[in-house]
Amino acid sequence: MTQLFIGLMSGTSMDAADAALVDFSAGPPTLIATHRAPLSSELRGALLALCAPGPNEIERMAALDTQLGEIFADCALALLKKAGVKADAVIAIGSHGQTVRHQPAGTYPFSLQIGNPALIAQRTGITTVADFRRADIAAGGQGAPLAPAFHNAVFRSAQRNRIVINIGGIANITLLPRDAKQFVTGFDTGPGNVLLDAWAERHLGKRMDEDGRFAASGKVNENLLNEFLQDNYFSLAPPKSTGREHFNLAWLDTMLKNHGSVPAQDVQATLCELTAASISDATRRHAPTAEEVLICGGGARNIHLMQRLRARLQPRAVDSTEKYGASPDWIEAMAFAWLAKRTLEGKPGSLPSVTGAGHEVVLGGIYRAKLTYPQV
Ligand SMILES: Nc1ncnc2c1ncn2[C@@H]1O[C@H](COP(=O)(O)OP(=O)(O)OP(=O)(O)O)[C@@H](O)[C@H]1O
Ligand SMILES: [Mg+2]
Repeated sequence: MTQLFIGLMSGTSMDAADAALVDFSAGPPTLIATHRAPLSSELRGALLALCAPGPNEIERMAALDTQLGEIFADCALALLKKAGVKADAVIAIGSHGQTVRHQPAGTYPFSLQIGNPALIAQRTGITTVADFRRADIAAGGQGAPLAPAFHNAVFRSAQRNRIVINIGGIANITLLPRDAKQFVTGFDTGPGNVLLDAWAERHLGKRMDEDGRFAASGKVNENLLNEFLQDNYFSLAPPKSTGREHFNLAWLDTMLKNHGSVPAQDVQATLCELTAASISDATRRHAPTAEEVLICGGGARNIHLMQRLRARLQPRAVDSTEKYGASPDWIEAMAFAWLAKRTLEGKPGSLPSVTGAGHEVVLGGIYRAKLTYPQV
């Protein structure tokens, strides 16, 4: 008997809605099918505008909540069609939603994801679990990162100390000690692709620096890199998490003001180095005994970034999770399928040793598609 779940993810990069159909019936989770629905430039622009304070936010947010709910539902339906699987065969969907604000350290801590889960449940006919971050924040945690619990379930080794680094818009690290008695820890290291994408968009008119070619064509400006690394976030002790509200083009423009005219390709090279340096600094400080480094997220596709990571993290083995049997592009979506399963089982989803929550909590809100409750 299969145990099918769907994970839906749209991360900080706002590049696409990702859908993964995962079977949890035996041993390690099996990825059955995937579907990616790129976000239109218009929608992406509207979402980006919502990430910073502006007029009429409630109305704009509510409309985008519905629009994204439809997009996520269509993405799940397209996935099922591709896989030749009926909705009835799927136990539940775990939908992360699109983060529009993440402020876990404010006076009134919150993290806000949109993409109406009630709509996803009604349109697909599949019970949908969403709003995964709130319970952890209510328990005193950051509500992020959430992927480490899944990394622990899939990539922990009894032979080697491993770290998993997910390079999405923001990059996060998971420390997996080989000693089963030791806690798993993890945190956001800082920008992953978010600044690389923004600078590539401004100077190349493209959404990303494909394979890191633009960065590879420039020279790292050491003064600028040092100024980037002076940012307070990098020296903060974990637990910590961050987002677009901190690392964005306005942040970069402020930094650039003190550095005359740095050629655009050198800025890109320096931003790429910032991602590699902040990850390697975090590794040196918090995971000095790590032997294997597993990279996932879109950043694993950036050839230049992977080279810079290998150079900075040597003599450790640095490889895409592909080498460990899991496509780097779908780990995050798979994680939310897994988190939905945890929720329906009444099991905790986040790790207090990662998020800083006072205790373990069952994550998410359940939006039922039917009158009967799905059985796990
Ligand atoms: N061939 C490539 N070359 C360079 N960069 C790439 C390539 N493919 C993907 N990327 C980068 O990966 C990003 C998308 O990665 P991903 O989907 O993992 O991030 P995300 O949506 O922000 O997820 P999250 O924040 O949840 O981890 C793109 O915006 C781009 O910067
Ligand atoms: Mg993405």
